[in-house]
Amino acid sequence: MELFNVYPIFDINIVKGEGSYVWDEKGNKYLDFYGGHAVISIGHSHPKYVERISDQVSKLGFYSNSVINELQKEVAKKLGKISGYNDYSLFLVNSGAEANENALKLASFYNGRTKVISFSKAFHGRTSLAVEVTDNPAIIAPINNNENVSFLPLNNINVFEEEIKKRDVCAVIIEGIQGVGGIKIPNNDFLQAVRKLCDETNTVLILDEIQSGYGRSGKFFAHQYAKIKPDLITVAKGIGNGFPLSGVLIHPKFNPTYGMLGTTFGGNHLACAAALAVLEVMEEESLVDNSKNMGEYLMNQLKDLPQIKEVRGRGLMIGLEFDTPIKDLRKKLLHEKKVFTGISGEKVLRLLPPLSITKNEADLFIKSLREAITDK
Ligand SMILES: Cc1ncc(COP(=O)(O)O)c(C=O)c1O
Repeated sequence: MELFNVYPIFDINIVKGEGSYVWDEKGNKYLDFYGGHAVISIGHSHPKYVERISDQVSKLGFYSNSVINELQKEVAKKLGKISGYNDYSLFLVNSGAEANENALKLASFYNGRTKVISFSKAFHGRTSLAVEVTDNPAIIAPINNNENVSFLPLNNINVFEEEIKKRDVCAVIIEGIQGVGGIKIPNNDFLQAVRKLCDETNTVLILDEIQSGYGRSGKFFAHQYAKIKPDLITVAKGIGNGFPLSGVLIHPKFNPTYGMLGTTFGGNHLACAAALAVLEVMEEESLVDNSKNMGEYLMNQLKDLPQIKEVRGRGLMIGLEFDTPIKDLRKKLLHEKKVFTGISGEKVLRLLPPLSITKNEADLFIKSLREAITDK
């Protein structure tokens, strides 16, 4: 059997990771400024993470959600404390799309409505509701195109106000910082206006913090820069440092009923061990602060590099917009300088390194990028 060929891949076989580095099967060492697509939060193969997962799997890897799972309760408690959302509850699933899927369902159960406001360039995943609120017609199958969603320009309060007042809107879904859309940040005053208008219309505000959350922005959640509280917050990616796990943080106004939501694998024992290791290491190593400090340092240094039109971002979620397409530059960085990076569209280089990077690693990245830009 062959693999279903949906990924345009690099011809590199990664077999090992440690901290901010990965190695291929030939022994080449790469600096990972892509974090396996914003997934690696505490660094590859962190010893505490390896120990906790190994220890857990030797005792119990999985049992279903039909019994008490103390590890889930521990994750909820620790996440509530570290994120500032102690009074919210937690529902655990397996992937980002699934978290958004459940958040949208919860919103609709709550107010009985069906229309959703999303934003241009938004990406929320590939399952049915998640893809329907994603602004990319190429990945929306006809079966998912139910005309329930309006895509509005980001940061335009007037257009938003007109739309939300025009009809009964079930939910607004917005990324803390748009990732796939090219590191676009919702303004604080825009988020505050969205919060206020959602309150006035009993619309549920969903913050997709799947890429921008878990310390990546230099605060635990990117929306905390705007000092607002959403009704639902979705998390994934960095939550398990590579172990598939995601969640929805749920405001106390939502009342759970048996069978309302459910999952076989979500929040299993092994996934919770990974999630606990991540939260413990984040706290012990002050990774949210490191993300903020390293992000500021990088953005300051990078804005002086040639050919870069704009440096955008917060913490370690950084977009470098170039004047011209950067496909070749990205390949050069990877194959010659041995540095992994991400991309958004054709001209934005996306940096999503582990939150644990050191100043030396930041300097190595800056040097490699400078050389890749200026080398002939
Ligand atoms: C903001 C955002 N939401 C949702 C998703 C979907 O997550 P997953 O691929 O785990 O389903 C992604 C993935 O890139 C994302 O960046």
